[in-house]
Amino acid sequence: MASKSRWANDDPETEAIIAQQKREKEEKRRAKAEKQRKLDEASKARQARQDANNAQGPNGESGPPTKRRRISNDQEAGSSDAEVVRVGQKQKRSSLLRFPVGVWGPCRHVDNFERLNHIEEGSYGWVSRAKDISTGEVVALKKLKLDNAPDGFPVTGLREIQTLMEARHANVVYLREVVMGNKLDDVFLVMDFLEHDLKALLDEMREPFLPSEIKTVLLQVVGGLEFLHSQWIMHRDLKTSNLLMNNRGEIKIADFGMARYYGDPPPKLTQLVVTLWYRAPELLLGADKYGTEIDMWSIGCIFGELLTKEPLLQGKNEVDQVSKIFALTGPPNSQTWPGFRSLPNAKSLRLPSTSAASSAGNPPLLPRSRFPYLTNSGLGLLSGLLALNPSSRPTAQQCLAHPYFLEDPRPKPKEMFPTFPSKAGMERKRRHHTPEAPKRGQEAPELDFAGVFGGAPGGDTGEAGAGFTLRLG
Ligand SMILES: Nc1ncnc2c1ncn2[C@@H]1O[C@H](COP(=O)(O)OP(=O)(O)OP(=O)(O)O)[C@@H](O)[C@H]1O
Ligand SMILES: [Mg+2]
Repeated sequence: MASKSRWANDDPETEAIIAQQKREKEEKRRAKAEKQRKLDEASKARQARQDANNAQGPNGESGPPTKRRRISNDQEAGSSDAEVVRVGQKQKRSSLLRFPVGVWGPCRHVDNFERLNHIEEGSYGWVSRAKDISTGEVVALKKLKLDNAPDGFPVTGLREIQTLMEARHANVVYLREVVMGNKLDDVFLVMDFLEHDLKALLDEMREPFLPSEIKTVLLQVVGGLEFLHSQWIMHRDLKTSNLLMNNRGEIKIADFGMARYYGDPPPKLTQLVVTLWYRAPELLLGADKYGTEIDMWSIGCIFGELLTKEPLLQGKNEVDQVSKIFALTGPPNSQTWPGFRSLPNAKSLRLPSTSAASSAGNPPLLPRSRFPYLTNSGLGLLSGLLALNPSSRPTAQQCLAHPYFLEDPRPKPKEMFPTFPSKAGMERKRRHHTPEAPKRGQEAPELDFAGVFGGAPGGDTGEAGAGFTLRLG
């Protein structure tokens, strides 16, 4: 017999109340279970969304902040990046060092290109004009010379690719892709093709560029350089043969064979950089700590070359180069270049005792007679770029803002530039009569500068220009 609670009551009303209470209790339990189930589901969905975000990378839809890995340095793709700040038409990034981490994929084979004609063999590559078979587009193909790399891909070749890939700017040659041949060291850079380099063009022209054209050329070169420096890239081989021009008057900086990232403070760097005629005096005097000022010196040499159509400082060797520089600028002294004496090769330098007299202004103005058609403002800019003391040279940014570019005649619009027949587009070019770029990875030779002012040792070896004696005043 079933026992009954002592509270039990046969009263049907009480029984109904108890049943009601049971139902309510059951209801509550079910509601609680349901709530828990919903919470579990929501948490699972959140986890799934997070996983999807991580798999998609930084450009996925906005979710809770996760640890992100940058998978592309492409400026367009990275436009949501807070570190990218638009400055005028350009994008200027924060000064953090960045390395391209592109999406890995197989390189195409060079067979995808049909070689049209050889353009030039330089120190670091063979350059040809070629056609992309799939699109019909004409490109420039540079086969890298990787011969001095017995064990693996040389770091210098990697630098050329890396800096060029990072340097996306209207005034820097556009690297489209890297393609491979059959062997591991058959590496080709595929670049936009430009009809001219400035050296070949100046050699062909009967008259130098007009002042308005020189300004347009310089503004573009220095604009590209300002971008490189803002990205912590030094070019280290600026010269007219490394400046390309197309038939729309556009200039692009090319040949990143010597380019490299630098830091602040600058690391110890090789001195053997920059083709001799465009090499800054601090490099010639053996500085192993140098900065973007070496590129500004080269810009000064290029400016002079654009004015006269001839390379400005054509030394036969390092010692002769220093002689030629001092003949143009006047020798250094402790006011115009404090501390130059502590540079390794300056110890052997014997300067005329009257050298202090040559410094009129700081930096001193170059002799007007050498540049008779240049305005005072232009001469001021050129003298600044060719200041012996690196810290007296304007930065690329300061150069762009120089009054020379604002005075008449104004820079000629690019579209109004004359067009010229393209040698690169049609036939093998003759070699430029300029010294070669320094060999990568070599040590700078020890130099004796005792002969710079006409002394015997280390000076010129008997050819024209030997026994240079500086004439002052
Ligand atoms: N994109 C291009 N379009 C057209 N011509 C080009 C292009 N790139 C290079 N050239 C031509 O090829 C020449 C050599 O190219 P580049 O300077 O890149 O090679 P390099 O071996 O490093 O040369 P060098 O050591 O002589 O400076 C240039 O001076 C130019 O005439
Ligand atoms: Mg070159």
